[in-house]
Amino acid sequence: MTATLSSASESLLGVYRRPPAEFVSGSGVELVDAEGKRYLDFVAGIAVNALGYGDPGLDRAFRDAMEGSLIHVSNLYRSQAGERLAEQLTEKSFADRVFFCNSGAEANEGAFKMARRWGRAQGGSPKHEIISLRGGFHGRLFGTLAATDRPQYRAPFRPLAGGISIVERDLDDLRTALNPDTVAAVIVEPVQGEGGVRVLDPAFMRGLRALTQERNVLLILDEIQCGYGRTGQLWAYEQSGIAPDILTIAKPMAGGLPMGAVLATADAAGAMQPGDHGTTFGGGPFVSSVALHVLDRVSDPAMLAHVRTRGAELQSALSDLQASSQKIRAVRGTGLIWGIDVAESAADIVARSLDLGLLICSAGEYTLRLIPPLVLSAADLQRGVGLLRKAIG
Ligand SMILES: Cc1ncc(COP(=O)(O)O)c(C=O)c1O
Repeated sequence: MTATLSSASESLLGVYRRPPAEFVSGSGVELVDAEGKRYLDFVAGIAVNALGYGDPGLDRAFRDAMEGSLIHVSNLYRSQAGERLAEQLTEKSFADRVFFCNSGAEANEGAFKMARRWGRAQGGSPKHEIISLRGGFHGRLFGTLAATDRPQYRAPFRPLAGGISIVERDLDDLRTALNPDTVAAVIVEPVQGEGGVRVLDPAFMRGLRALTQERNVLLILDEIQCGYGRTGQLWAYEQSGIAPDILTIAKPMAGGLPMGAVLATADAAGAMQPGDHGTTFGGGPFVSSVALHVLDRVSDPAMLAHVRTRGAELQSALSDLQASSQKIRAVRGTGLIWGIDVAESAADIVARSLDLGLLICSAGEYTLRLIPPLVLSAADLQRGVGLLRKAIG
Protein backbone atom coordinates (compact mmCIF):
# COMPACT_ATOMS: atom_id res chain seq x y z
CA MET A 1 0.00 0.00 0.00
CA THR A 2 1.26 3.47 -0.82
CA ALA A 3 1.81 5.63 2.25
CA THR A 4 -0.09 8.90 2.22
CA LEU A 5 2.06 11.92 1.61
CA SER A 6 1.37 13.42 5.03
CA SER A 7 2.57 10.34 6.92
CA ALA A 8 5.58 10.03 4.61
CA SER A 9 6.52 13.65 5.05
CA GLU A 10 6.57 13.34 8.84
CA SER A 11 9.13 10.54 8.60
CA LEU A 12 11.36 12.29 6.07
CA LEU A 13 14.02 14.74 7.20
CA GLY A 14 12.44 18.11 6.56
CA VAL A 15 15.05 19.67 4.29
CA TYR A 16 12.65 20.16 1.37
CA ARG A 17 9.39 22.08 1.21
CA ARG A 18 7.21 19.99 -1.08
CA PRO A 19 3.80 20.75 -2.52
CA PRO A 20 1.14 18.14 -1.71
CA ALA A 21 0.84 16.78 -5.29
CA GLU A 22 2.29 13.29 -5.73
CA PHE A 23 3.26 12.28 -9.25
CA VAL A 24 2.44 8.70 -10.08
CA SER A 25 2.96 8.39 -13.82
CA GLY A 26 4.20 10.27 -16.84
CA SER A 27 4.31 10.27 -20.58
CA GLY A 28 6.45 12.43 -22.86
CA VAL A 29 6.78 15.81 -21.16
CA GLU A 30 3.73 15.31 -18.94
CA LEU A 31 3.39 14.05 -15.37
CA VAL A 32 0.15 12.84 -13.81
CA ASP A 33 -0.61 13.14 -10.08
CA ALA A 34 -2.51 10.74 -7.83
CA GLU A 35 -5.76 12.63 -8.55
CA GLY A 36 -5.29 12.25 -12.30
CA LYS A 37 -4.36 15.91 -12.87
CA ARG A 38 -1.83 16.41 -15.68
CA TYR A 39 1.18 18.71 -15.50
CA LEU A 40 3.48 19.90 -18.26
CA ASP A 41 6.94 19.36 -16.83
CA PHE A 42 9.53 22.11 -17.39
CA VAL A 43 11.66 20.88 -14.47
CA ALA A 44 12.50 17.35 -15.68
CA GLY A 45 13.52 16.17 -12.21
CA ILE A 46 15.96 19.15 -12.10
CA ALA A 47 17.46 18.60 -15.57
CA VAL A 48 17.64 14.82 -15.13
CA ASN A 49 14.84 13.45 -17.32
CA ALA A 50 16.28 14.54 -20.67
CA LEU A 51 14.27 11.89 -22.53
CA GLY A 52 11.00 12.68 -20.73
CA TYR A 53 8.70 9.95 -19.38
CA GLY A 54 7.85 6.56 -20.86
CA ASP A 55 10.42 6.90 -23.63
CA PRO A 56 10.30 3.54 -25.49
CA GLY A 57 14.06 3.44 -26.12
CA LEU A 58 14.87 4.18 -22.49
CA ASP A 59 12.30 1.65 -21.27
CA ARG A 60 13.93 -0.97 -23.51
CA ALA A 61 17.39 -0.03 -22.20
CA PHE A 62 16.15 -0.59 -18.63
CA ARG A 63 14.61 -3.95 -19.56
CA ASP A 64 17.74 -5.04 -21.46
CA ALA A 65 19.90 -4.01 -18.51
CA MET A 66 17.68 -6.03 -16.14
CA GLU A 67 17.87 -9.10 -18.31
CA GLY A 68 21.41 -8.80 -19.62
CA SER A 69 23.53 -7.70 -16.70
CA LEU A 70 24.12 -7.92 -12.98
CA ILE A 71 22.97 -4.94 -10.96
CA HIS A 72 26.17 -4.39 -9.00
CA VAL A 73 29.60 -5.93 -8.56
CA SER A 74 31.52 -2.99 -6.91
CA ASN A 75 34.60 -1.29 -8.24
CA LEU A 76 36.78 -4.11 -6.99
CA TYR A 77 35.82 -5.95 -10.19
CA ARG A 78 35.45 -5.12 -13.87
CA SER A 79 32.19 -4.04 -15.48
CA GLN A 80 32.06 -4.33 -19.25
CA ALA A 81 29.27 -1.76 -19.54
CA GLY A 82 31.21 0.71 -17.37
CA GLU A 83 34.32 0.24 -19.50
CA ARG A 84 32.32 0.73 -22.70
CA LEU A 85 30.69 3.85 -21.33
CA ALA A 86 34.08 5.29 -20.36
CA GLU A 87 35.37 4.57 -23.87
CA GLN A 88 32.33 6.27 -25.42
CA LEU A 89 32.72 9.32 -23.20
CA THR A 90 36.38 9.71 -24.07
CA GLU A 91 35.64 9.25 -27.79
CA LYS A 92 32.98 11.96 -27.67
CA SER A 93 34.92 14.50 -25.58
CA PHE A 94 38.31 16.03 -24.80
CA ALA A 95 38.93 13.44 -22.08
CA ASP A 96 41.31 10.47 -21.73
CA ARG A 97 40.13 9.12 -18.36
CA VAL A 98 36.77 8.70 -16.65
CA PHE A 99 35.82 8.06 -13.03
CA PHE A 100 32.20 7.11 -12.31
CA CYS A 101 30.31 8.06 -9.17
CA ASN A 102 26.71 8.62 -8.10
CA SER A 103 25.82 12.32 -8.06
CA GLY A 104 26.90 15.77 -9.11
CA ALA A 105 28.40 16.79 -5.78
CA GLU A 106 30.31 13.52 -5.66
CA ALA A 107 31.69 14.17 -9.15
CA ASN A 108 32.91 17.61 -8.07
CA GLU A 109 34.45 16.21 -4.88
CA GLY A 110 36.32 13.72 -7.08
CA ALA A 111 37.45 16.55 -9.36
CA PHE A 112 38.75 18.54 -6.37
CA LYS A 113 40.74 15.56 -5.13
CA MET A 114 42.15 14.97 -8.60
CA ALA A 115 43.17 18.64 -8.82
CA ARG A 116 44.86 18.54 -5.41
CA ARG A 117 46.69 15.34 -6.33
CA TRP A 118 47.85 16.94 -9.58
CA GLY A 119 48.87 20.11 -7.71
CA ARG A 120 51.03 18.13 -5.33
CA ALA A 121 52.72 16.39 -8.26
CA GLN A 122 53.76 19.76 -9.76
CA GLY A 123 56.53 20.07 -7.15
CA GLY A 124 57.38 23.14 -5.06
CA SER A 125 54.89 24.29 -2.45
CA PRO A 126 51.82 22.12 -3.04
CA LYS A 127 49.34 23.82 -5.34
CA HIS A 128 46.15 23.08 -3.46
CA GLU A 129 43.64 25.93 -3.62
CA ILE A 130 40.40 25.56 -5.55
CA ILE A 131 38.70 28.68 -6.82
CA SER A 132 35.04 28.89 -7.81
CA LEU A 133 33.07 31.81 -9.19
CA ARG A 134 30.46 34.20 -7.86
CA GLY A 135 27.03 32.66 -8.52
CA GLY A 136 28.48 29.15 -8.83
CA PHE A 137 26.70 26.05 -7.52
CA HIS A 138 28.71 22.87 -7.22
CA GLY A 139 26.86 20.78 -4.66
CA ARG A 140 26.14 20.57 -0.96
CA LEU A 141 28.67 18.12 0.46
CA PHE A 142 31.49 19.53 2.56
CA GLY A 143 34.03 20.31 -0.16
CA THR A 144 31.48 21.38 -2.74
CA LEU A 145 29.55 23.53 -0.26
CA ALA A 146 32.69 25.63 0.18
CA ALA A 147 32.67 26.18 -3.60
CA THR A 148 28.93 26.96 -3.74
CA ASP A 149 28.02 30.64 -3.60
CA ARG A 150 24.80 30.43 -1.59
CA PRO A 151 25.26 32.23 1.77
CA GLN A 152 22.11 30.65 3.28
CA TYR A 153 23.32 27.13 2.43
CA ARG A 154 26.79 27.82 3.84
CA ALA A 155 26.15 29.78 7.03
CA PRO A 156 24.73 26.98 9.22
CA PHE A 157 27.68 24.68 8.50
CA ARG A 158 30.72 26.86 9.08
CA PRO A 159 33.62 26.28 9.27
CA LEU A 160 33.55 25.03 5.69
CA ALA A 161 36.27 22.93 4.06
CA GLY A 162 39.46 24.96 3.70
CA GLY A 163 41.48 25.91 0.64
CA ILE A 164 38.41 26.74 -1.45
CA SER A 165 37.42 30.32 -2.22
CA ILE A 166 34.96 32.23 -4.38
CA VAL A 167 36.10 34.95 -6.78
CA GLU A 168 34.08 37.41 -8.91
CA ARG A 169 33.27 36.49 -12.53
CA ASP A 170 35.91 38.89 -13.71
CA LEU A 171 39.20 38.17 -15.46
CA ASP A 172 41.06 40.93 -13.59
CA ASP A 173 39.95 39.53 -10.23
CA LEU A 174 40.91 36.05 -11.38
CA ARG A 175 44.31 37.32 -12.53
CA THR A 176 44.88 38.55 -8.97
CA ALA A 177 43.54 35.35 -7.38
CA LEU A 178 45.36 32.77 -9.53
CA ASN A 179 48.65 32.49 -7.68
CA PRO A 180 50.56 29.84 -9.67
CA ASP A 181 52.32 28.63 -6.50
CA THR A 182 49.17 27.82 -4.55
CA VAL A 183 46.18 27.45 -6.88
CA ALA A 184 45.48 23.99 -8.29
CA ALA A 185 42.20 24.57 -10.11
CA VAL A 186 39.35 26.86 -11.02
CA ILE A 187 35.85 25.35 -11.23
CA VAL A 188 33.21 26.99 -13.41
CA GLU A 189 29.75 26.18 -14.78
CA PRO A 190 29.71 27.33 -18.43
CA VAL A 191 26.02 28.08 -17.77
CA GLN A 192 25.45 28.84 -14.08
CA GLY A 193 22.21 27.04 -13.27
CA GLU A 194 21.14 27.36 -9.63
CA GLY A 195 22.85 30.76 -9.44
CA GLY A 196 20.30 32.36 -11.77
CA VAL A 197 20.88 30.81 -15.22
CA ARG A 198 23.80 32.87 -16.46
CA VAL A 199 25.45 31.87 -19.72
CA LEU A 200 29.08 32.83 -19.24
CA ASP A 201 30.36 34.91 -22.13
CA PRO A 202 32.43 32.77 -24.56
CA ALA A 203 35.10 35.51 -24.55
CA PHE A 204 35.28 35.25 -20.73
CA MET A 205 35.57 31.46 -20.99
CA ARG A 206 38.39 31.76 -23.54
CA GLY A 207 40.14 34.37 -21.36
CA LEU A 208 39.83 32.07 -18.35
CA ARG A 209 41.19 29.12 -20.32
CA ALA A 210 44.19 31.19 -21.45
CA LEU A 211 44.78 32.49 -17.91
CA THR A 212 44.63 29.02 -16.32
CA GLN A 213 47.07 27.72 -18.93
CA GLU A 214 49.43 30.64 -18.37
CA ARG A 215 49.38 30.06 -14.57
CA ASN A 216 49.56 26.24 -14.78
CA VAL A 217 46.17 25.89 -13.09
CA LEU A 218 43.60 23.23 -14.03
CA LEU A 219 40.25 24.30 -15.45
CA ILE A 220 37.36 22.20 -14.13
CA LEU A 221 34.07 22.68 -15.96
CA ASP A 222 30.95 21.66 -14.06
CA GLU A 223 28.42 20.61 -16.71
CA ILE A 224 26.28 18.67 -14.27
CA GLN A 225 23.23 20.79 -15.17
CA CYS A 226 24.14 22.43 -18.48
CA GLY A 227 25.96 19.56 -20.24
CA TYR A 228 24.82 16.43 -22.07
CA GLY A 229 22.96 18.18 -24.87
CA ARG A 230 21.08 20.83 -22.90
CA THR A 231 22.77 23.74 -24.71
CA GLY A 232 22.21 22.13 -28.13
CA GLN A 233 25.81 20.84 -28.16
CA LEU A 234 26.77 17.64 -26.37
CA TRP A 235 29.12 19.70 -24.15
CA ALA A 236 28.44 23.28 -23.11
CA TYR A 237 32.16 24.05 -23.46
CA GLU A 238 31.84 23.64 -27.23
CA GLN A 239 30.00 26.99 -27.34
CA SER A 240 33.21 28.83 -26.46
CA GLY A 241 35.59 26.63 -28.45
CA ILE A 242 37.70 25.68 -25.44
CA ALA A 243 38.32 22.39 -23.67
CA PRO A 244 38.76 21.89 -19.93
CA ASP A 245 41.29 19.72 -18.07
CA ILE A 246 38.51 18.16 -16.00
CA LEU A 247 34.76 17.98 -16.64
CA THR A 248 32.06 16.86 -14.23
CA ILE A 249 28.68 15.49 -15.32
CA ALA A 250 25.78 13.76 -13.60
CA LYS A 251 22.06 14.54 -13.73
CA PRO A 252 20.78 13.12 -17.07
CA MET A 253 23.48 10.46 -17.47
CA ALA A 254 21.48 7.34 -16.61
CA GLY A 255 17.83 8.12 -17.36
CA GLY A 256 16.97 8.96 -13.73
CA LEU A 257 19.26 6.46 -12.01
CA PRO A 258 21.88 8.16 -9.83
CA MET A 259 25.14 8.53 -11.73
CA GLY A 260 27.94 11.05 -12.06
CA ALA A 261 31.35 11.13 -13.68
CA VAL A 262 34.66 12.95 -13.67
CA LEU A 263 36.24 13.21 -17.13
CA ALA A 264 39.88 14.28 -17.34
CA THR A 265 42.87 14.62 -19.60
CA ALA A 266 45.69 12.13 -19.06
CA ASP A 267 47.77 14.96 -17.59
CA ALA A 268 45.15 16.10 -15.04
CA ALA A 269 44.39 12.50 -14.05
CA GLY A 270 48.02 11.40 -14.18
CA ALA A 271 48.85 11.72 -10.50
CA MET A 272 45.92 9.63 -9.25
CA GLN A 273 47.14 6.27 -8.01
CA PRO A 274 45.31 3.07 -7.03
CA GLY A 275 43.76 3.75 -3.62
CA ASP A 276 43.62 7.55 -4.03
CA HIS A 277 39.86 7.64 -4.54
CA GLY A 278 36.91 5.30 -4.62
CA THR A 279 33.17 4.77 -4.38
CA THR A 280 31.15 1.59 -3.86
CA PHE A 281 28.47 1.99 -6.51
CA GLY A 282 29.98 4.11 -9.31
CA GLY A 283 29.83 2.75 -12.86
CA GLY A 284 28.19 -0.57 -12.06
CA PRO A 285 26.88 -2.82 -14.86
CA PHE A 286 23.19 -1.91 -14.58
CA VAL A 287 23.48 1.86 -14.37
CA SER A 288 26.19 1.92 -17.05
CA SER A 289 24.08 -0.14 -19.48
CA VAL A 290 21.27 2.39 -19.20
CA ALA A 291 23.74 5.27 -19.44
CA LEU A 292 25.12 3.87 -22.73
CA HIS A 293 21.65 4.29 -24.22
CA VAL A 294 21.21 7.83 -22.86
CA LEU A 295 24.62 8.92 -24.20
CA ASP A 296 23.75 7.50 -27.59
CA ARG A 297 20.52 9.49 -27.63
CA VAL A 298 21.78 12.84 -26.34
CA SER A 299 24.83 12.81 -28.62
CA ASP A 300 22.73 12.07 -31.73
CA PRO A 301 23.18 15.09 -34.06
CA ALA A 302 19.40 15.03 -34.73
CA MET A 303 18.70 15.37 -30.97
CA LEU A 304 21.20 18.23 -30.67
CA ALA A 305 19.66 19.99 -33.69
CA HIS A 306 16.22 19.50 -32.10
CA VAL A 307 17.43 21.17 -28.88
CA ARG A 308 18.85 24.11 -30.86
CA THR A 309 15.56 24.54 -32.73
CA ARG A 310 13.46 24.34 -29.55
CA GLY A 311 15.94 26.65 -27.82
CA ALA A 312 15.48 29.31 -30.51
CA GLU A 313 11.68 28.94 -30.23
CA LEU A 314 11.81 29.24 -26.45
CA GLN A 315 14.04 32.30 -26.67
CA SER A 316 11.61 33.97 -29.05
CA ALA A 317 8.52 33.02 -26.99
CA LEU A 318 10.14 34.29 -23.78
CA SER A 319 11.19 37.56 -25.46
CA ASP A 320 7.57 38.07 -26.55
CA LEU A 321 6.43 37.31 -23.02
CA GLN A 322 8.91 39.80 -21.61
CA ALA A 323 7.81 42.48 -24.11
CA SER A 324 4.20 42.09 -22.97
CA SER A 325 4.75 41.83 -19.21
CA GLN A 326 5.82 44.49 -16.71
CA LYS A 327 6.64 41.70 -14.28
CA ILE A 328 9.58 40.27 -16.21
CA ARG A 329 12.89 42.04 -15.68
CA ALA A 330 15.20 39.86 -17.79
CA VAL A 331 15.34 36.63 -19.74
CA ARG A 332 18.59 34.65 -20.06
CA GLY A 333 19.57 31.27 -21.38
CA THR A 334 20.55 29.01 -24.23
CA GLY A 335 19.23 25.75 -25.65
CA LEU A 336 16.77 24.34 -23.12
CA ILE A 337 18.01 26.09 -19.98
CA TRP A 338 16.38 29.47 -19.34
CA GLY A 339 16.09 31.88 -16.45
CA ILE A 340 13.48 34.62 -16.07
CA ASP A 341 14.04 37.43 -13.56
CA VAL A 342 10.68 38.42 -12.13
CA ALA A 343 9.44 41.33 -10.04
CA GLU A 344 7.79 39.16 -7.37
CA SER A 345 8.79 36.10 -5.37
CA ALA A 346 9.70 33.29 -7.78
CA ALA A 347 8.29 30.77 -5.28
CA ASP A 348 4.83 32.36 -5.59
CA ILE A 349 4.90 32.05 -9.39
CA VAL A 350 6.17 28.47 -9.14
CA ALA A 351 3.17 27.69 -6.88
CA ARG A 352 0.67 29.38 -9.23
CA SER A 353 2.19 27.48 -12.19
CA LEU A 354 1.71 24.21 -10.35
CA ASP A 355 -1.98 25.04 -9.81
CA LEU A 356 -2.27 25.74 -13.53
CA GLY A 357 -0.61 22.43 -14.42
CA LEU A 358 2.91 23.62 -15.27
CA LEU A 359 6.02 22.56 -13.35
CA ILE A 360 8.79 25.15 -13.21
CA CYS A 361 11.42 25.79 -10.54
CA SER A 362 13.36 28.75 -9.27
CA ALA A 363 17.04 29.70 -9.37
CA GLY A 364 17.24 32.26 -6.59
CA GLU A 365 14.53 34.35 -4.93
CA TYR A 366 13.51 36.32 -8.03
CA THR A 367 14.45 34.01 -10.90
CA LEU A 368 12.33 31.32 -12.51
CA ARG A 369 14.11 28.45 -14.21
CA LEU A 370 12.93 26.37 -17.17
CA ILE A 371 14.82 23.10 -17.78
CA PRO A 372 12.35 20.89 -19.68
CA PRO A 373 13.12 17.45 -21.10
CA LEU A 374 15.21 17.74 -24.27
CA VAL A 375 12.48 15.89 -26.21
CA LEU A 376 10.07 18.84 -25.78
CA SER A 377 7.80 19.32 -28.81
CA ALA A 378 7.01 22.70 -30.40
CA ALA A 379 3.35 22.38 -29.32
CA ASP A 380 4.24 21.59 -25.68
CA LEU A 381 6.70 24.47 -25.67
CA GLN A 382 4.00 26.94 -26.73
CA ARG A 383 1.50 25.41 -24.28
CA GLY A 384 4.05 25.75 -21.46
CA VAL A 385 4.80 29.38 -22.26
CA GLY A 386 1.04 30.07 -22.39
CA LEU A 387 0.61 28.63 -18.88
CA LEU A 388 3.65 30.56 -17.70
CA ARG A 389 2.11 33.79 -19.05
CA LYS A 390 -1.00 33.11 -16.96
CA ALA A 391 1.03 32.24 -13.85
CA ILE A 392 3.12 35.42 -14.10
CA GLY A 393 -0.11 37.36 -14.60
C1 LIG B 1 25.98 22.72 -11.68
C2 LIG B 1 25.71 21.75 -10.58
N1 LIG B 1 26.73 21.18 -9.95
C3 LIG B 1 26.53 20.28 -8.97
C4 LIG B 1 25.27 19.94 -8.55
C5 LIG B 1 25.08 18.94 -7.45
O1 LIG B 1 24.54 17.78 -7.98
P1 LIG B 1 23.84 16.70 -7.01
O2 LIG B 1 22.59 17.33 -6.50
O3 LIG B 1 23.60 15.52 -7.91
O4 LIG B 1 24.81 16.41 -5.93
C6 LIG B 1 24.17 20.53 -9.18
C7 LIG B 1 22.80 20.20 -8.73
O5 LIG B 1 21.84 20.89 -8.98
C8 LIG B 1 24.39 21.45 -10.22
O6 LIG B 1 23.37 22.05 -10.85
